[in-house]
Amino acid sequence: MIPANTVRDIMDAVRIEEVVEEFVNLRRRGVNMIGLCPFHNEKTPSFNVNPTRNIFKCFGCGKGGDAVTFLIEHEKFTYPEALRWLARKYNIEIEEVERTPEQVAEQQLTDSLYIVNDFALQHFQTQLFDTDEGKSIALAYFKQRGLREDTIRTFGLGYAPSLHDLLLQRAKAAGHSLELIKKVGLCNQEGTRDFFRGRVMFAIHNLSGKVAAFAGRTMSSDKKVPKYINSPETEIYVKNKILYGAYQAKKAIRQLDECILVEGYTDVLSLFQSGIENVVASSGTALTEGQLQLIKRNTENLKILYDGDPAGVKAALRGLDLALEQGLNVKVVLLPEGEDPDSYIQKVGSTAFGEYIDREARDFILFKTGLLMEEAKGDPIKKAGLIKDILGSIARIPDPIKRGVYLKECSSLLDVSEEVLHVETNKLIAGALRKKADRDARQPQAASDSRTGSIRPDVPMPDPEISKPAREEGPKRGDEFQERDIIRLLVQFGNQMLSDENITLAELVVADIEESLDSFDNPLYSRIAQECHSRLLAGQPVTPEFFLEHNLKEVRDLAITLLAEPTRWNYSPNWEAMKDLPLQNQPMPEFNFSSDAQKSLNLFKLRKIVKILDLNKERIRAAEQSGKLEELARLHKVHIKLQEVFKEISKRTGTIILR
Ligand code: CTP
Ligand code: MN
Repeated sequence: MIPANTVRDIMDAVRIEEVVEEFVNLRRRGVNMIGLCPFHNEKTPSFNVNPTRNIFKCFGCGKGGDAVTFLIEHEKFTYPEALRWLARKYNIEIEEVERTPEQVAEQQLTDSLYIVNDFALQHFQTQLFDTDEGKSIALAYFKQRGLREDTIRTFGLGYAPSLHDLLLQRAKAAGHSLELIKKVGLCNQEGTRDFFRGRVMFAIHNLSGKVAAFAGRTMSSDKKVPKYINSPETEIYVKNKILYGAYQAKKAIRQLDECILVEGYTDVLSLFQSGIENVVASSGTALTEGQLQLIKRNTENLKILYDGDPAGVKAALRGLDLALEQGLNVKVVLLPEGEDPDSYIQKVGSTAFGEYIDREARDFILFKTGLLMEEAKGDPIKKAGLIKDILGSIARIPDPIKRGVYLKECSSLLDVSEEVLHVETNKLIAGALRKKADRDARQPQAASDSRTGSIRPDVPMPDPEISKPAREEGPKRGDEFQERDIIRLLVQFGNQMLSDENITLAELVVADIEESLDSFDNPLYSRIAQECHSRLLAGQPVTPEFFLEHNLKEVRDLAITLLAEPTRWNYSPNWEAMKDLPLQNQPMPEFNFSSDAQKSLNLFKLRKIVKILDLNKERIRAAEQSGKLEELARLHKVHIKLQEVFKEISKRTGTIILR
């Protein structure tokens, strides 16, 4: 924990322009500074930094905030990481409080492991560049493989000569403890012999650029010698959370909003050096959840390059459902038979290579569908199996809209009606969610731990009124149908951006019903709506996870039911009378005003909108006064949307409301 007065010291010292300038080229315009926004692609600068207020704001994409927000967004830091970064920049000493002696010891251990690895990195580089053996064997090898010196340095490549214990001797002489050298795996357990000998070395960096481990490639052609050996897992090298090249690729991945995944170290080096810098390697193993999350923090678009061996590819596809589950858009590219990315780019050059992967990239689901269809040709039983397989993949996709698009595409590829595919997929989703709920129920401790991992003040205690069995299937009274649909929208689409607005559906819905929040007929729906409201006020998103991991079982159950509901809805008779509500059968969940809504309902709505407009105006004034730019931009969007809604309804009802 960083003590509050230190936080204050840091925030007092921070100059927003000095922080931003570390990442963005700024030039002065009046009292402000402007530059190209690092958060979206643009050619003319709309990214503003206001030194007086110590804030930044992009008028293109709407991102804005203070230096901490900037670092969290740009560097994907956590809050404390951002503070530490700033403290280092401004030479403010952080005296951490409330750290247990164990925590202190752990921090010291990881720090010293990095120090030993740093020493080893220097050593391997010296051996490579400054010794005869290094130059004639290793440097020659790298050059022969087409690697330039700048690439070799950027990636921290090196050489471990075929000597018994050179590194060990040097490290000890430099004062490093044998224990630590052993611990990072640079020598054997007896502490008598170097681990890497006679190998070219690859430093493996963590996301912030520290050397977490090494891989060494043999120089011998002896098939019995393992081609690569790696440092063991340690506190600083958790294999399934590291991707080779991620540190060097991070910037390009964000700029291009895409991550290219290859298998090997040399593939990363070759591509990066040819200007395809958004590339990382899984190091020859299946992708893990931790690695996927690391990608997800930087982009949602993943392009995987495979050597063109169909059998191998089919096996690899199985592992990709995990990527879909993370909400990634996955494309696959098959390279020509017998080529890996390294060999192919060396053969055809970077332009042709780039064109090839653009041209050959296939959407993973459609690719898999095509591949399996080919196999099942004319065999109905096989075909039934493959449909299940594909729906199994689609069911993993968290975004219902994306699911809908895939089901549509697959419907024509598979020649099965979209309706049937929807029903089957929803069954799979409901089944999976039920299993998860059962698991949670069987391990109440673990389940509640995961939900309250950080004890959030906004998680309410169970309300006795709500803890009655949910009347999900029973008859609805009053406005319950309407209310239920509002909740459905929040659960299914709450965090979706509205087509070209910068507000989420939850923000629109909640703004729209703000006044009726206390007058819901159904207490459970009322509670949910109010919680969404407070979340939005607190700047937290309304995601499906919020509902699925809620501490009230009723909310979790309802969310499961609602998420499993078909995206095409069979309207009940009561529904027909409520055409003014958001309808289901649209590409995007927007309010649908094209119906013959009852005039009275509309009038009622109009009056409410007028009130909300007024309220919003007051907020705009307040935000202007307090200089909350971000809030202001959001409120303006809400204002415009409300006005549109207002106009649309008045047109429909032919009513003029005097304001
Ligand atoms: N790998 C490994 N251990 C091995 C073999 C492979 O860790 N014994 C991992 C490495 O990360 C390697 C990747 O799997 O980069 C792909 O293996 P391979 O294609 O055999 O190696 P390349 O990187 O292509 O190496 P080179 O081109 O030098 O043969
Ligand atoms: Mn290779």
